[in-house]
Amino acid sequence: MNSNEKGQAVWMADNEQDTVALAEQLAAWATPGTVLALDGDLGAGKTRFSQAFAKAIGVNGVVNSPTFTIIKEYQGSQLPFYHMDVYRLSQTEADELGLDDYFYGDGVTIVEWASLIADLLPPERLQLYIDHLGDEKRRITLSGTGVLYVRWCTELQAMGASGK
Ligand SMILES: Nc1ncnc2c1ncn2[C@@H]1O[C@H](COP(=O)(O)OP(=O)(O)OP(=O)(O)O)[C@@H](O)[C@H]1O
Ligand SMILES: [Mg+2]
Repeated sequence: MNSNEKGQAVWMADNEQDTVALAEQLAAWATPGTVLALDGDLGAGKTRFSQAFAKAIGVNGVVNSPTFTIIKEYQGSQLPFYHMDVYRLSQTEADELGLDDYFYGDGVTIVEWASLIADLLPPERLQLYIDHLGDEKRRITLSGTGVLYVRWCTELQAMGASGK
């Protein structure tokens, strides 16, 4: 395997708890430098997923949407957690923020609306696209680039992610 290899998985969430379960599994695998790139329409569940992830890595207290602050930093029990929402960020601002310090830092980064800054994301990352299918139903399509993320996708598929 090389870093150009891609993995894919589909996680069907029938309800909010299924989304939380995916976040918890990814949190269990996360290590320093893990980058999760989230996309999906307004209200799809990007922040809800991020909150479940934060809780699972031991962040205490409330994790709000960082829409206006762009980046929020938290300390989990094992790892720092960097939560970004780049919806309102211009390309120039994004360039100036020095995002690599987060992506390649000691913590885990989740980026909401990540495709808006696709050029600035590290090549090795896990992308999650959340489709709002109705009420609590969501389809979360994962695609991983890099050995580690490809392995995660394979594991998720093996867990029956696509068969639900
Ligand atoms: N299966 C599910 N997964 C995630 N969220 C769900 C699910 N079912 C219902 N919800 C609800 O959908 C809403 C998702 O809102 P959230 O703020 O997470 O969306 P978002 O993608 O971050 O939107 P925005 O683009 O505005 O930041 C929450 O109120 C959450 O409780
Ligand atoms: Mg959000």
